[in-house]
Amino acid sequence: MLITIPDVLSASEVAQARAALDAAEWVDGKVTAGYQAQSVKANLQLPEGHPVAVKLGEVVLGALAQSPLFMSAALPLRVFPPMFNRYAGGGHFGTHVDTAIRANATTGQRIRTDVSATLFLSAPEEYDGGELRVEDTYGVHSVKLPAGHMVLYPATSLHRVDPVTRGARVSSFFWVQSMVRSDADRTLLYDLDTAIQRLAVDVPGNAAGVKLTGVYHNLLRRWAEM
Ligand code: NI
Repeated sequence: MLITIPDVLSASEVAQARAALDAAEWVDGKVTAGYQAQSVKANLQLPEGHPVAVKLGEVVLGALAQSPLFMSAALPLRVFPPMFNRYAGGGHFGTHVDTAIRANATTGQRIRTDVSATLFLSAPEEYDGGELRVEDTYGVHSVKLPAGHMVLYPATSLHRVDPVTRGARVSSFFWVQSMVRSDADRTLLYDLDTAIQRLAVDVPGNAAGVKLTGVYHNLLRRWAEM
């Protein structure tokens, strides 16, 4: 499931984040790439644990904690501290799959990357290229969102970022270990939750809604790992 979460950050939060990021010292993005990804990765990153990344990461996580859509779609157990990258001057990231297990540089805690997230911090008009392209069995999906919007996609997907040929593409990226490992199972739960919410609006007080809510929780009880 590939899903957009609009307005994770407000325009003023994006502007504040960009001011801090544009003044920060960036390093070569190859430092966190695995062996295969290193050969196809050409971008800049803030080092893990960089004070600007830590501070802005807390802003991002605080915003996500308020997002029912993020909670329903990702069913997060653990969220990796958000990282930040910058593509400019032809910078790109060729086709790869994200590393399955990552360790938090500060705490050492390992997470399994089930869901990948990209939060756009540049407006689409600021740069040419830079589309995130995610492959699944239905083809290749191109993603280029307004600043402050975020995309979630299965971390099991092959994906790439096209070369940025004008301007700069700044974003936050991170991973979620979900309580529900399987993308297919998460998608079922998300669809069921969405239908239940819709039913509650369209037919308030309907007894079937109570029963379906029970089904949702009993499936989650069956599939959740913690
Ligand atoms: Ni990736």
